[in-house]
Amino acid sequence: MQFFIDTANLDDIREAAELGILDGVTTNPSLMAKEGISGEKAILQHYRDICEILGPGKDVSAEVISTDYAGMISEGKKLAELHPNIVVKVPMIRDGIKAIAHFSEAEIRTNCTLVFSAGQAILAAKAGATYLSPFVGRVDDITWDGIALIKEIFEIYTGQGYETAILAASIRTPLHIVQAAKAGADVVTCPLSAILGLLNHPLTDIGLAKFLSDHKKSNG
Ligand code: E4P
Repeated sequence: MQFFIDTANLDDIREAAELGILDGVTTNPSLMAKEGISGEKAILQHYRDICEILGPGKDVSAEVISTDYAGMISEGKKLAELHPNIVVKVPMIRDGIKAIAHFSEAEIRTNCTLVFSAGQAILAAKAGATYLSPFVGRVDDITWDGIALIKEIFEIYTGQGYETAILAASIRTPLHIVQAAKAGADVVTCPLSAILGLLNHPLTDIGLAKFLSDHKKSNG
């Protein structure tokens, strides 16, 4: 399973990249706004900066703002030309599906976002999306089961032989990461805190403290 970080914060991206386990970054307009990035020029430069931090062969999802077909095509082309790492993030709406089909023909990689049902997942795969982003945390927020959705999509994609990668999004905790891996996700995207949370185990801390104190006792 690949690890993406879900942020537009350059320090968090650098920290995750330095761990040596980062495969990509996902952003969205809310995450860009949180970092105070506004205006087309600044937004495009920020995407370039993220791509440069990651280096070659990594994926960076950059989301279109348009909701009509022509607008999405023109924005998506501009984003894709920015850097080879860019994956055009397109919302799961009628014109979004049309745009994904167009980008697929043009060999521009896409991430279909705001996915909340298996039916939407089937449509996105048929349109040729590179990635599908079901929002696990937001499904949990309304007391449905986000991980069950990942399992359902995995079953359909495996049975049908769809090549679209399942990118479990809106992943918020270390437990979500483990559950997404068990459910068959190809990728998880989550904040740095969830990735770092995977490190924690009290027995590791107790064991390491004992090893170090025993070493000290016998080596002075
Ligand atoms: C997906 O790519 C979104 O950026 C993201 O995962 C949404 O997460 P949230 O529900 O925690 O805002």
